[in-house]
Amino acid sequence: MRLGKPSRTAWAAAAHRAVHQVLEQGHIFADPLALRILGEDGEAVVREAAQQPSRRRMRMFIAARTRFAEDALAAAVERGVRQLVVLGAGLDTYAYRSPWGDRLRIFEVDHPATQAWKRQRLEDAAIPIPKSLTFAPIDFEHQTLPEGLAAAGFDSAQQTFFTWLGVVPYLTEEAVWFTLAFIANLPSGAHVVFDYSDPPDSLPPEWRAGHEKRAARVAELGEAWLTHFEADDLRAKLMALGFCEVEDLGPPQIAARYFPHRAIILPDKGGHILRATTI
Ligand SMILES: C[S@@+](CC[C@H](N)C(=O)[O-])C[C@H]1O[C@@H](n2cnc3c(N)ncnc32)[C@H](O)[C@@H]1O
Repeated sequence: MRLGKPSRTAWAAAAHRAVHQVLEQGHIFADPLALRILGEDGEAVVREAAQQPSRRRMRMFIAARTRFAEDALAAAVERGVRQLVVLGAGLDTYAYRSPWGDRLRIFEVDHPATQAWKRQRLEDAAIPIPKSLTFAPIDFEHQTLPEGLAAAGFDSAQQTFFTWLGVVPYLTEEAVWFTLAFIANLPSGAHVVFDYSDPPDSLPPEWRAGHEKRAARVAELGEAWLTHFEADDLRAKLMALGFCEVEDLGPPQIAARYFPHRAIILPDKGGHILRATTI
């Protein structure tokens, strides 16, 4: 990220969610706040996206990962989870439309510059901040997640759900494993949902070109993709850390679950959405 500046990729992900509400009527992921949080930019963003069909694939992936995370969270809350940490929240709106009220305590963790910018956007859009939400500004390059969460009042004795969407590729592998080890070692158990991509050299040639174009674009924004995983290796390492259940959807499984009416055949390699739990 650029020094002192909010994340540009956080804006791009939020724009995809907002466009999905209009161009696909939110049929994978419905978010009544997605356009509102973009503010005045919203309508122009939708008009531009309508002219760019090549953006659809990433938009559908972002809609699917958010839906997957929120469905898994709902199931966990039904089973008694009372604490949620949204890691690298960007302009995610879950906390402002959570159906659980005070039953679910929510921590939004993000880089201080991105979080300050989001809070201004919330104020401009007159989106109220619920009592159940605590902001935890943390720059992972200068502070660890356990320190930052402790300072925000996180209860490490509570079973907790973590969403970590659109963040893992931007971190070093060391930082990713540090966070996963923290989650795996929480004493009352934890759940995490995150997305990742296969290594670029394993992608089919027609996807690799698109991947490289997007990689160059995010690197120009100062938010380069640093980390990729190979699915079997990632699963084995998660199990070794203490996760006992891992659900990993690659491109064909995502398509089968979320776009079953589209007759498309997708390669095994590409973007994945993963849920892991320690209990
Ligand atoms: C692509 S955005 C994803 C935002 C959101 N989860 C979503 O799906 O829309 C990446 C997020 O990671 C955060 N991030 C990147 N580097 C960070 C760092 N060093 N410390 C804290 N957060 C960071 C950015 O501020 C941004 O919110």
